[in-house]
Amino acid sequence: MCGIVAYVGHRQASDVILKGLKRLEYRGYDSAGIALLNKSLTVYKKKGKVSDLENFIKGQNLTSHIGMGHTRWATHGEPNDENAHPHYSATKNLAIIHNGIIENYSSLKQELLRKGHTFFSETDTEVFIHFIEDIKENVGCSLDEAVRLALTKVVGAYAIVVMSFEEPDLLIAARKGSPLVVGVGKGEFFMASDATPIIEYTNEVVYLNDQELAIINKGKLTIKNTANLPLTPYIQTIDLELEAIEKGGYEHFMLKEIFEQPRSIMDCMRGRMDSASGRLTLGGLREYINKLVNADRVLIVACGTSWHAGLVAEYFFEEFCRVPVEVEYASEFRYRNPVIREGDVVIAISQSGETADTLAAIELAKSKGAIIFGVCNVVGSSIPRTTHAGAYTHAGPEIGVASTKAFTAQLTVLYMIALIVAQRKGTISEQKYHEMLVEMENVPSKVEKALKLNTQIQIIAEEFKDARNFIYLGRGYNFPVALEGALKLKEISYIHAEGYPAAEMKHGPIALIDQEMPVVVIATKDGSYEKVVSNIQEVKARKGRVISIVTEGDTLIPKMSDYVIEVPATVDPLMPLISVIPLQLLSYHIAVMRGCNVDQPRNLAKSVTVE
Ligand code: G6P
Repeated sequence: MCGIVAYVGHRQASDVILKGLKRLEYRGYDSAGIALLNKSLTVYKKKGKVSDLENFIKGQNLTSHIGMGHTRWATHGEPNDENAHPHYSATKNLAIIHNGIIENYSSLKQELLRKGHTFFSETDTEVFIHFIEDIKENVGCSLDEAVRLALTKVVGAYAIVVMSFEEPDLLIAARKGSPLVVGVGKGEFFMASDATPIIEYTNEVVYLNDQELAIINKGKLTIKNTANLPLTPYIQTIDLELEAIEKGGYEHFMLKEIFEQPRSIMDCMRGRMDSASGRLTLGGLREYINKLVNADRVLIVACGTSWHAGLVAEYFFEEFCRVPVEVEYASEFRYRNPVIREGDVVIAISQSGETADTLAAIELAKSKGAIIFGVCNVVGSSIPRTTHAGAYTHAGPEIGVASTKAFTAQLTVLYMIALIVAQRKGTISEQKYHEMLVEMENVPSKVEKALKLNTQIQIIAEEFKDARNFIYLGRGYNFPVALEGALKLKEISYIHAEGYPAAEMKHGPIALIDQEMPVVVIATKDGSYEKVVSNIQEVKARKGRVISIVTEGDTLIPKMSDYVIEVPATVDPLMPLISVIPLQLLSYHIAVMRGCNVDQPRNLAKSVTVE
């Protein structure tokens, strides 16, 4: 979390930085700040969003060819002006922006306080820049050497950029555990948490690796690691269109991303699958696919919505591949002593590819000898670079903080992986395999059809927008969808919502049901249909208000429901790709009607790079 941008070159630095920060606001929006260098090294910072910072600096002389900016997701210290980044060093000759946590900052701070330093914020970051300056003065070395030495003494995660009043053409960046990309333009350089602030100017980038420093000095980029070993910058050309990161006429990114799903699911399958010939290939898996085919057990690690994708995958991996699957919250997995045996394979699912807990879970599993597969959306992010094999979801940039199109793309990739494995193992019949491919190819048009329910869902949202609680119920493949529906509503509308396996309701949540309680039941025609009908009757008997998601043409459930949303039919395992659509739209409309900031819900961030 936290977004960082820096620029040096012939443009007005503040323009590049402010625009870039807006693109990175999905990473945090508690405060924003910018440092520019003209007659002095000046820091402007403000609690709130980048637009608040823009209002604050209106009328100031922002002329500068070099600068850096930050949008914060608070960890140390409440979100206020003082704790906002950039932070100055003691002499104010240096400034820093930082994404991550310096875990040993407290002992460093004590040492610096003893030396007479004064701190103006409660942040670990301010301590860090004082520490760097202290080293520079004591050792009498260059700034990049002082940064390097400081990095060898700090514990924690960081992506930082440092600039200096005394060296007006110098930017120093470093990373460990938090992402950082350097953009290489013609006579100009960019640094950012991801490529979105950069692609407007150049598509040549260098992804910094952990424990590496990038030093841009007088128009030259050098890279070395914290052990002081010089490295050759590996410049890559990225394929990212500007329009993919803009709203394209939609009111919110989230709505745009919901509506993009027919295309993103198609993009995910493009060139990888063909039902006519039965071809199904995922290039990134080839080398390690036998490990998955021969796996005794599959462990799936993920967080948030990606964890829900993992839960759906558990159902179809077990059904198609006949292999035991365990789905783990990455944050829990890493803090116990999990049993990982030879023959176990781990699949890590992450939209951002940067989630700290997922990364740590991967490291743990790797250290115990497991083979790791990644299913990620952001190309070049940390997880795909640490896993043995994997497949990208190719959903395009997801900017709305609540995940939508990444979820359906993750499922699409996971279905493809499961089908490849099942076919190789011989645990799926040729007929079923073929049926699955055909049905997968039909999914984009069915999602398109489900999206046509938008207006109807808006009307239902109007009815329930003032509810204080919601229950979501589903069984089988639709149980994880119920969890995902409840999470979407919580995240963006701040209404308390719980997802439950429909049959489990009678063991607790049924006590909550009265005429005030909206109950969303995902009741499509599948193996558990009859049972779900009984569950709906149990809710109705207690006067709950039922909103049912049913398969088109269903005549039974509409009779017992207050509201009915009909979605196109598909085979059971693929239904989550379709049944989740109305739930995304329902939460979106309710949140908009409640006046919530849909794309940037309070307290959340899209990329959670702290543990
Ligand atoms: C955050 C986001 C969620 C996301 C989760 C996992 O909480 O707000 O939308 O599902 O992180 O992120 P990942 O990038 O690993 O999928």
